[in-house]
Amino acid sequence: MKKVILISGASTGFGRYIAKLLSSNNFKVYGTSRNPTKYSGFEGLELLKYDLTTFKDSKKLVEKVLSIEGKIDVLINNAGSGFVAPIEEMSIKDAKHLFDTNFFGHIDLIQAVLPSMRKNKSGMIVNITSIAGYNNIPFGSIYSASKYSMECLGASLNMELKDFGIRVVNIAPGDYRTGIFDKRMKTNLNINSPYYSRYKKFSETVKYNMDKQSRDPIEVAKLTLKIIKRKNPGIHYIVGHFLQKFSISLKKILPEKLYQKLIMNHYKI
Ligand SMILES: NC(=O)c1ccc[n+]([C@@H]2O[C@H](COP(=O)([O-])OP(=O)(O)OC[C@H]3O[C@@H](n4cnc5c(N)ncnc54)[C@H](OP(=O)(O)O)[C@@H]3O)[C@@H](O)[C@H]2O)c1
Repeated sequence: MKKVILISGASTGFGRYIAKLLSSNNFKVYGTSRNPTKYSGFEGLELLKYDLTTFKDSKKLVEKVLSIEGKIDVLINNAGSGFVAPIEEMSIKDAKHLFDTNFFGHIDLIQAVLPSMRKNKSGMIVNITSIAGYNNIPFGSIYSASKYSMECLGASLNMELKDFGIRVVNIAPGDYRTGIFDKRMKTNLNINSPYYSRYKKFSETVKYNMDKQSRDPIEVAKLTLKIIKRKNPGIHYIVGHFLQKFSISLKKILPEKLYQKLIMNHYKI
């Protein structure tokens, strides 16, 4: 019997790569998008309409998959959005929306899926977090906080679900060539803003890194496939460019002020 996968945000980026790779490896895949009719190329898998931020569609989504398949073996919490802004000038409404998308929406979907996984005494929840959840960068506070929150949630949830045969895995990617950079929420600063010049330099460096140094998203899809096939997966996985992964170790061993200096040098601010 095929394993059934539900993955949020399968229309583009990691979600699309993961959904297609799993589907071609004999998994039955249900992906989601806010506008499924906008996307093509999903032969052999289903793309269902779903918005994480409404908090009223998760149960319906899960019931739909359960009514067809009778089970969900793996939930992949992948949907997400980027957000950059100086803290002083960010809109609280935007910050809350980002947290709804990257954190609370996932809790809503996890709550909807868990009763059936508990009943089956088996299941796996995979959270796509970010290296940004391990590191702090200027102007990226809310995104990092949302991803750090998912890392914490995943680790706690793994302990809470131990007796029910359900595993929770966090995958933290570095920079990959998906559409996230161009679609990210951002605050457009007025030229008179005291942050204008540093924010501009920061944004230019992020764009340069994304254009020149970001990696092929298939890597994350392949890692996800490997993890899902494992009987005894780990809890945290970090995937990306060596330097991005190394920066996490550096943060642990360097004095924090020195580490912050390196980060600011990196972003040329
Ligand atoms: N790319 C990177 O470098 C990178 C690095 C670390 C972590 N990540 C994380 O990887 C995940 C996937 O991002 P990506 O890079 O693949 O970007 P992406 O191509 O922009 O994909 C984002 C996906 O999330 C969905 N989504 C966005 N807002 C949603 C909402 N309110 N409700 C439901 N679905 C929503 C989108 O679907 P629709 O627009 O069709 O609804 C889309 O399928 C995110 O959690 C992101 O934070 C990305």
